[in-house]
Amino acid sequence: MIEVARNEVRYEGFVLRPCGAVPGSFDCGKSDLNEFFIQDQLQYEEQLLAKTYALLPEGGDEEFPKALISFCNDAIRAESFEDKKDFEKIKKQLPHGKRYNSLPAVKIARLGVHRHYQRKDVGTHLLNMTKLLFLTENRTGCRYITVDAYRTKRAVEFYRKRGGFRFMEKEVQTDYEMRLADPNFEVEDSDETVSLYYNLKWTQL
Ligand SMILES: CC(C)(COP(=O)(O)OP(=O)(O)OC[C@H]1O[C@@H](n2cnc3c(N)ncnc32)[C@H](O)[C@@H]1OP(=O)(O)O)[C@@H](O)C(=O)NCCC(=O)NCCS
Repeated sequence: MIEVARNEVRYEGFVLRPCGAVPGSFDCGKSDLNEFFIQDQLQYEEQLLAKTYALLPEGGDEEFPKALISFCNDAIRAESFEDKKDFEKIKKQLPHGKRYNSLPAVKIARLGVHRHYQRKDVGTHLLNMTKLLFLTENRTGCRYITVDAYRTKRAVEFYRKRGGFRFMEKEVQTDYEMRLADPNFEVEDSDETVSLYYNLKWTQL
């Protein structure tokens, strides 16, 4: 059963809701992300620059998040594409007459699953609940989710396979897939990012 309240989603034993202070022991294995969640996210919220949500087990330990995610507003804009064909491909997902040059989106600015819960579908639940959060009780139109994912196999395959995200740009996808096929490519640790997107209309409720 899906239960949704404004800014809170309950689904399959988890709650996603705005978080307060994050315990100093939160550790997703990436120090820059840990630092943001533990030290900076409340200031970003105060400045209206990002809002962080915690994924908690329903009825369990309310203090300790299994995963954290921060959002900010975004748009997929024609002018940010080097190859305009890539934008045209995304725009064609919209009906005729609504194919604007700026498409409303929400960006996953930061996402981390606590180390103890990784590889147990927690991140997948988080993406599913994120989709529900932006498909229900909206205050504004929001058609896409965007993310600049670390160019690691772990992050990119997580968004593609578990979230149904696609590469914004064909050339970046081709380059990533070529590198992935090369056994010498360092795929597990990179601070470089690749832009991915998800069309919320792909969601089956
Ligand atoms: C990437 C991350 C969010 C995945 O969360 P998770 O809860 O472990 O992921 P799930 O269990 O829901 O999904 C597992 C899928 O993610 C990918 N994945 C996750 N960890 C992986 C790893 N160590 N190696 C390769 N693929 C991995 C795979 O596609 C995997 O599917 P598979 O098991 O069928 O191959 C988590 O590992 C994390 O927080 N990492 C550190 C921070 C980070 O990289 N955040 C992404 C910001 S761009």
